[in-house]
Amino acid sequence: MSKTATIEIDGKKYEFPIIEGSENEEAIDIKKLRELTGIITLDPGYKNSGSCTSKITFLDGELGILRYRGYSIEDLAEKADFLETSYLLIFGELPTADQLEQFENDIRKYTLVNEEMKSIIDGFPKTAHPMGVLAALTSALTAFNPKSVNVDNEKEMYQAVCKTMGKFLVIATWTYRKSMGFPLNYYDNTKGYVENFMELMFKLPTEPYKASPIIIEALDKLFILHADHEQNCSTSTVRMVGSSHAGLFASISAGVSALWGPLHGGANQAVLEMLEEIYKNGGDTDAYLAKAKDKNDPFRLMGFGHRVYKSFDPRAQIIKKAANEVLATLGVDDPILAIAKKLEVAALEDEYFKSRNLYPNVDFYSGIIYRALGIPTDMFTVMFAIGRLPGWIAQWKEMRENKEPIGRPRQIYTGAALRDFKKPQ
Ligand code: CMC
Repeated sequence: MSKTATIEIDGKKYEFPIIEGSENEEAIDIKKLRELTGIITLDPGYKNSGSCTSKITFLDGELGILRYRGYSIEDLAEKADFLETSYLLIFGELPTADQLEQFENDIRKYTLVNEEMKSIIDGFPKTAHPMGVLAALTSALTAFNPKSVNVDNEKEMYQAVCKTMGKFLVIATWTYRKSMGFPLNYYDNTKGYVENFMELMFKLPTEPYKASPIIIEALDKLFILHADHEQNCSTSTVRMVGSSHAGLFASISAGVSALWGPLHGGANQAVLEMLEEIYKNGGDTDAYLAKAKDKNDPFRLMGFGHRVYKSFDPRAQIIKKAANEVLATLGVDDPILAIAKKLEVAALEDEYFKSRNLYPNVDFYSGIIYRALGIPTDMFTVMFAIGRLPGWIAQWKEMRENKEPIGRPRQIYTGAALRDFKKPQ
């Protein structure tokens, strides 16, 4: 017999179904709550509210489990590549070798970005933050691709996926080229996706360029680790914006803005800035731990804590190992890595962090790798966005295919009661 939950309000009992996910997660289905009782639930920050059912990503915060479409993040990081993982997330199954080759070729059809986009970039000051520029450029893609995708047409949807994967990578790197005053590069369709990322970023017209295979491999892994994370802030934003039937580019542009904040993807930049500051101030990690614990100080230990993970973040464990390997292979001796390790050990032994289940998250070590790879600090969150793109696309597609209703939360009004209009004297 299926489970139910009973809610009693003013002595009257109401029964609601409990729905169960494929990993035994349970939710009280309150779709009829207001209709039956006139009452709503209140849950700021959605700490206890599911917004949808989804087949894409499973995570268990208590056990530190993350899986895309049933495959463990550890397996994917070791055995798959980024485009393969993207295909898996978006279309639900791992591609065969032929499907993967076709996917890569189809993305290549859309790697040329309209030249008029360059005049939009020229309107930004060189000092503009790349995430702001990326959000604007992603939104601007709508103007150059005005036809909205018919999500019920498999071919159209597939083309929209390839187009987004192709163009987003190029404009993401253009935000960096603009900030450096470098000419904007074109995608080279004879090369791979991540190799192209490096060339788009760093190749100069004045000299030959060959990206190191070690760097390409490390970046590929980082992109996989960031590729999806179920209903986080930016993904929920993408689903919410898309639920009004706004297009894919517009929805993803909103996701980029949501990701930018320091409590979300912007944390990777904030972590590195924090570690640099600690280093410059003599490496006194205890002083920064004390600041983070002080309730009168707004400072938080960036890269620590997670809304869902309460034992460890499996991505952080993979990234920490990768950071050690990449720095060793590249022969980089970065004192910032030592600061990060010292801070991590001290925090993990500290009662404040232990009692609140605060552990290093994905952003704690990713910045150290990016830095070793020559990626500038204010591009770190753009790196996150490139990695998260397939997740956003997969979630948008699922939301539309499930024919989800427009997202429209309710509220409890706590403002003034009706008052007569009188102009203040
Ligand atoms: N440093 C110090 N105290 C913290 C921290 C931190 N990084 N994170 C949480 N706390 C404390 C917080 O002050 C609160 O204490 P108390 O119970 O005494 O009031 C308690 O821990 C619970 O915090 P919360 O803010 O209610 O937890 P949340 O689930 O709303 O927030 C978080 C999660 C990730 C926003 C938060 O841990 C944080 O601000 N971390 C730093 C920013 C960061 O690294 N963000 C990246 C997240 S992972 C990448 C991504 O997916 O976006």
